[in-house]
Amino acid sequence: MATPNISNTNIGVFTELPHAQMTVERIVDRVRNARLFPQFADVRDLDWAGAVVLDAGCGAGMKCLPLALVGAEVVGIDGSPAQASRAKAAAEALGVDAEFLVGRLENLSDLWGDRDQADLIINSAVIHHVDGWRDVIAQFEQILKPGGWLYLTWGDPSLSLCGFILKNQIAYRLGWNMRSRLKIGRALFGWWDRRRNTMDVELDSFFADLYAAYYNPIPLRTMLHELDRANFRIAGSMPPFNLQQWLARTKHNKWFLAHLGLIGDAVVRWRYFFRFRHGPRVLLCQRVKNH
Ligand SMILES: C[S@@+](CC[C@H](N)C(=O)[O-])C[C@H]1O[C@@H](n2cnc3c(N)ncnc32)[C@H](O)[C@@H]1O
Repeated sequence: MATPNISNTNIGVFTELPHAQMTVERIVDRVRNARLFPQFADVRDLDWAGAVVLDAGCGAGMKCLPLALVGAEVVGIDGSPAQASRAKAAAEALGVDAEFLVGRLENLSDLWGDRDQADLIINSAVIHHVDGWRDVIAQFEQILKPGGWLYLTWGDPSLSLCGFILKNQIAYRLGWNMRSRLKIGRALFGWWDRRRNTMDVELDSFFADLYAAYYNPIPLRTMLHELDRANFRIAGSMPPFNLQQWLARTKHNKWFLAHLGLIGDAVVRWRYFFRFRHGPRVLLCQRVKNH
């Protein structure tokens, strides 16, 4: 089956089934207890007070509101009015000044308008839901300051036996609308995937996210190519995708592995492909200063 306008389908899913049990109180609680950039020391210790931050596809604001709490000027944009209004309510409850707009990532530059260039763009668990995602990456380059940071996460099919993406593709293609995809995915994979509902949201919402929304399978190699075209350097990846990144994280002395070169890179990739735990790829990227 073709996938006509996946942005519409996905925004529909996230509007109709936003995580219902994630009340404003729970969002606020999570935001207060969030750790900034746990994976990346490069950005964790920066002073974010006064920094201009765009959360592109902000959902309920759980990724950007912790930055508003430390004084960043936050703008969140999401295609779903329901999600944007929950983010606004959470900001009010936290007593922080943050702006939340309803709009498509495809029109990001227009929505950003003549604001100052951003110090940081957060794009978490969204890019795989968007039509024309390559153009969105190019728009990130326009909006970010030279030297600015992009925190990007997505469901990378080169991780974890494609488990998550494969299941999504099966449920999505077998179903004909949100409800049927949800039912099919739930019947086929729900018994296994329900254990992954660590945020303890209503199961229908959790499964709708996994099976009724469409995940564009964007492999790491393709993403790295687009980021390079848009003048981003990769400052970090979780999980690592080459030997150098892996060695930098391990506590043990693995000097003998440091000489494995391309074989070592392949071993690191296989290591994260052949595992059952699903998780997104998280990349920390920096806009190259002069080009
Ligand atoms: C899985 S949620 C992630 C929310 C948030 N970034 C987080 O990490 O908590 C995906 C969000 O992307 C939004 N979205 C999907 N496609 C979009 C598009 N084309 N333009 C704007 N927002 C979109 C959905 O409405 C939804 O809120």
